[in-house]
Amino acid sequence: MLLEKALWIIAFTVVLLTSEVYDKNDELLKACLPFTSVTGNGTTNKMIDLNENSEKIQDLKCNTHRINGMKGFDENVLKAEIVNKIEECEGLCNNQKECRAFRYLLKNRVCFVYNSKQHIEDDISESGFYVKRCVLCYMNITKNVKGCDDEIESVWEDVSSLEKCEDNCIKSDNCRAVHFDGERCFKFTDEVKPYEKTGIDFSRKICEQYTD
Ligand SMILES: *[C@@H]1O[C@H](CO)[C@@H](O)[C@H](O)[C@H]1NC(C)=O
Ligand SMILES: *[C@@H]1O[C@H](CO)[C@@H](O)[C@H](O)[C@H]1NC(C)=O
Repeated sequence: MLLEKALWIIAFTVVLLTSEVYDKNDELLKACLPFTSVTGNGTTNKMIDLNENSEKIQDLKCNTHRINGMKGFDENVLKAEIVNKIEECEGLCNNQKECRAFRYLLKNRVCFVYNSKQHIEDDISESGFYVKRCVLCYMNITKNVKGCDDEIESVWEDVSSLEKCEDNCIKSDNCRAVHFDGERCFKFTDEVKPYEKTGIDFSRKICEQYTD
């Protein structure tokens, strides 16, 4: 009996904690993400560019992550629709920037899209509850430094600007940094410690995670 009570208190605290983090993340998301849509099946990490609305090259990747035995709160439902597959339900979530979680009921194919990832235990055993996680990446330039030549992973030839070089790095999942010599873009996939070199510009990818 006592143990049961203790477990309830723990569960409640966890929900409170996650909701607090969520609210903070939500502020962050609002502050730096002027995007219009996130597309694709999140589990495969589809990407969108935020170039249009920012002077910085940025990239947002979202994916979904299942939490077993949970559901969202009724008051947080943005949308409820009948869809044929869980992938369609995920699509509804990914296409809505306010979406933070979704739930799919196999039995009647009802899809719930939530504006919060707050959740409680589900009484329907076969429901699938997924939260959306996003990572925002951008490039940070340091002028007149370069990475070590023996750490170069590959080279993009005939690159016209540092911006194009950074864009290549943003679009390449395993790219951690680049340096640009005026026509070639050198890619690094490991943590690099750049050193001074006049005429070469270095740019490191910085990624911030918005998770629970
Ligand atoms: C996303 O796609 C993958 C691979 O096609 C699939 O296994 C997964 O079930 C999809 N996501 C969801 C939430 O169903
Ligand atoms: C960007 O790079 C500069 C060095 O050029 C560094 O001082 C700064 O902390 C970096 N910014 C971030 C957000 O890491």
